[in-house]
Amino acid sequence: MSTAKSDGRPDKVTTRTVVDFKRKGEKISMITAYDFTMARIVNYAGIDVILVGDSASNVMAGHETTLPITLDQMIYHTSCVVRGVDRALVVADLPFMSYQVTVKEALISAGRMMKDAGAHAVKLEGGAPVAETIRRIVDAGIPVMGHLGLTPQSIYKFGTYKVRAKEEAEAEQLINDALALQQAGCFALVLEKIPSGLARKVTEMLDIPTIGIGAGSACDGQVLVVHDMLGLTRDFHPRFIRRYANMFDDMTQAISTYVQDVKSGDFPSDTEQYN
Ligand code: KIV
Repeated sequence: MSTAKSDGRPDKVTTRTVVDFKRKGEKISMITAYDFTMARIVNYAGIDVILVGDSASNVMAGHETTLPITLDQMIYHTSCVVRGVDRALVVADLPFMSYQVTVKEALISAGRMMKDAGAHAVKLEGGAPVAETIRRIVDAGIPVMGHLGLTPQSIYKFGTYKVRAKEEAEAEQLINDALALQQAGCFALVLEKIPSGLARKVTEMLDIPTIGIGAGSACDGQVLVVHDMLGLTRDFHPRFIRRYANMFDDMTQAISTYVQDVKSGDFPSDTEQYN
């Protein structure tokens, strides 16, 4: 849970805190948020890291993949989240094609995420091929979280959302990529949908923390998409999601009751109006 200073202000989570968590053996909690209200709730609940994921493309905009979301849209979502947070570290995804073309473009995108949106760090997908880009962003003073395994921005290259790195060659590649990202200056690494044994190996090998999603219990932290864990999404049931609430049904129930109350004239009552 959230800790607080003697004056009541919370201890802010920084990239250094997150690395220290690994050193101390304390697990890191991370969750996505894309707007002010959700950010306030997850921050209040004591989450360590909020990821403004490009999964906003799916859960906020209704796209099938993360590819269509733009840098301006991610900046908008991130700025809303930052305003709702007084403790959690806010990490923002750099969207597809905002960092892959040139290092210069990547620096401009990362810089806008920090200056225009107020993010505390950025996340980008990929291994050794993006290591030089990451090094340059980190050199500019911007913390970077890496992302390996299933990298949804490459879904058309993979052709499937199935578990990655089950074969030895891909597992070996992932290990080399993880080392390259640590060497490039990443402060943490998301491992998505890889075998738990491989995630354990990577976690034990690295000094920086790993944050898993569908990567097993050995990771230094866990991340879930908030809409999935709250049960706001309905028809998505991969085994790595634990549902902590059933909000699709709860919200449907509340809103249909409101509809009935309006139709019947039960709402507003005498006490819900100005006389
Ligand atoms: O965009 C996102 O939500 C993510 C998490 C699934 C790690 O990248």
